[in-house]
Amino acid sequence: MTSEEIRKKFLEFFRVREHTVVPSSSLIPDDPSVLLTTAGMQQFKRYFTGELDAKKDFGSLNTASIQKCFRTSDIDEVGDASHLTFFEMLGNFSFGGYFKEKAIEYGYEFITKDLGIAPDRISVSVFKGDSSTGSTSSLQAGSGQVIPRDDESFGIWHEKIGISKNKIGENGREDNFWGPTGSEGPCGPTSEIYVDGLEVWNLVFNEYYQKPDKTLEKLETLGVDTGMGLERLAMVVQNVPTIFETDLFQPLIQFLPANLSERMRRILTDHMRGIAFLISDGVWPSNKEAGYILRRLIRRLVTHLHLAGDTVDQTQIFVEVINLYGSFYPELNLNKERILEVFKEERARFKFTLQVGLKELNRVTSLDAKSAFKLYESYGLPYEILKELGGDKAIKLTREAFDEEFSKHKIISRMGAVKKFGGHGLILNTGELKAGDEAELKKVTRLHTATHLLHRALRQVLGDDVHQMGSDITTERTRFDFSFNRKMTPEELKKVEVIVNEKVKEELPVKFEEMTKEEAEKTGALHFFKEKYPEKVKVYYVGDSLKTAWSKEFCGGPHVTHTGEIGKIRILKEEAVGAGVRRLRATVE
Ligand code: SER
Repeated sequence: MTSEEIRKKFLEFFRVREHTVVPSSSLIPDDPSVLLTTAGMQQFKRYFTGELDAKKDFGSLNTASIQKCFRTSDIDEVGDASHLTFFEMLGNFSFGGYFKEKAIEYGYEFITKDLGIAPDRISVSVFKGDSSTGSTSSLQAGSGQVIPRDDESFGIWHEKIGISKNKIGENGREDNFWGPTGSEGPCGPTSEIYVDGLEVWNLVFNEYYQKPDKTLEKLETLGVDTGMGLERLAMVVQNVPTIFETDLFQPLIQFLPANLSERMRRILTDHMRGIAFLISDGVWPSNKEAGYILRRLIRRLVTHLHLAGDTVDQTQIFVEVINLYGSFYPELNLNKERILEVFKEERARFKFTLQVGLKELNRVTSLDAKSAFKLYESYGLPYEILKELGGDKAIKLTREAFDEEFSKHKIISRMGAVKKFGGHGLILNTGELKAGDEAELKKVTRLHTATHLLHRALRQVLGDDVHQMGSDITTERTRFDFSFNRKMTPEELKKVEVIVNEKVKEELPVKFEEMTKEEAEKTGALHFFKEKYPEKVKVYYVGDSLKTAWSKEFCGGPHVTHTGEIGKIRILKEEAVGAGVRRLRATVE
């Protein structure tokens, strides 16, 4: 059975059982608390909570979908027999239509009848319940709530379906409880279906809503959320030893040079799919968030093909991906040009740096977190590549130590000066703002001063409870996160915009003074309370003198010299990013 047939059978199975087939949502989710779509249920979150009405929107309380998913937690593991970043998830969902009994019956029937998998290859698992006396698991922490054993699912599997007791495993929260995607959301106990000991289908019974403080509240409507990875399913149906031998990968693997190791060919095919789907859904390579994930995948792909002697037509490999997946995912065909262009451009940008970086890597004798971070910073060689190519030199290099170096650097450089990297790579990287050339540097500098003005104006309009929680500046916009516990009104947003633009018109000077941390604190300059600052800091201020300044902040710069250079500031958007944290986006014209 081909994977195309599996997809069709799955959707047909549920369609005739009164499910509305819903297309995959984008890999870029609506939900701001997650970077990328990781599960089929994400697009349905608000139907589980009752905020939206499935009957009204889908004409049924039940849906089925094949969802494009991307899990970044697995990036380091890709290369073995089973891990992937991008994958397709088959799922059926119910928002108050049916619950455990039907969900289990459907699952078993589809696997054994429609796919023809012999019942003796199947085993299952259910939630064993929290122990009421023993230690609480990390997932329970903060709530202390005790969720009982899922007797009902056990009973259905054993009595109705006829699975013998020794084939029903029982696990705790780590394995048989679905936690919410993001900081909060629907969740509940799960029951898994295994074929030959391999987990293929996860049935989630949504009974609770997990709040950001981890406490669980009963949901009004019971929901079903199931997910089954197509790649694994194809593997057991097609009876091949790994997912990479299925028809979802073979055409791609065969296209790669034979001199690459098996592991490498797996990494590359995984990344090729991921790159094509991310670009087609509108992700652009950048140094932040989803864009950075895409950049890492492209860099890894380009590096390995380079090491293999650059014998592959690198844009042709995306044509292969589009050929293989385009009939089910027409967006790949529609965005073919974009996929090829974005990849080509990013490859060109990286190629030169790569060559210089590889030379440098050859030169170092051992690679610890510090030297690895330096290579990352100067040449953009990501951790994975350094670890991989460093070989024996990098034996002691760990992701934790590298990440630690990364965050240390972020704080220090936010306070530090403009960094120049000998003409290669970035010319400025403070963690808060990045620039690749002089023109970008000018733009982010204007946006940076605009950010200080916005911060001050927000406090003027909303009060001194507003504190900066983070910020990120690209050449397109500034993004400012601050503490505040409700949505801002349109009037408040207007007020902020008017205030900052008045300050621009006033052409106020922007200057700094350097002093000890204690002295700086006494000036009343704004700063992050939790952060470790160096002994000597700069205080940037907007106005004639530090004493009378309208805005003062601990900051490393760079800034414009007069507010007039900023140009008109326009607020683009204000939204929630978490409990009590708002996010403002603004641009300069
Ligand atoms: N949400 C569950 C999962 O992703 C079931 O769909 O595994």
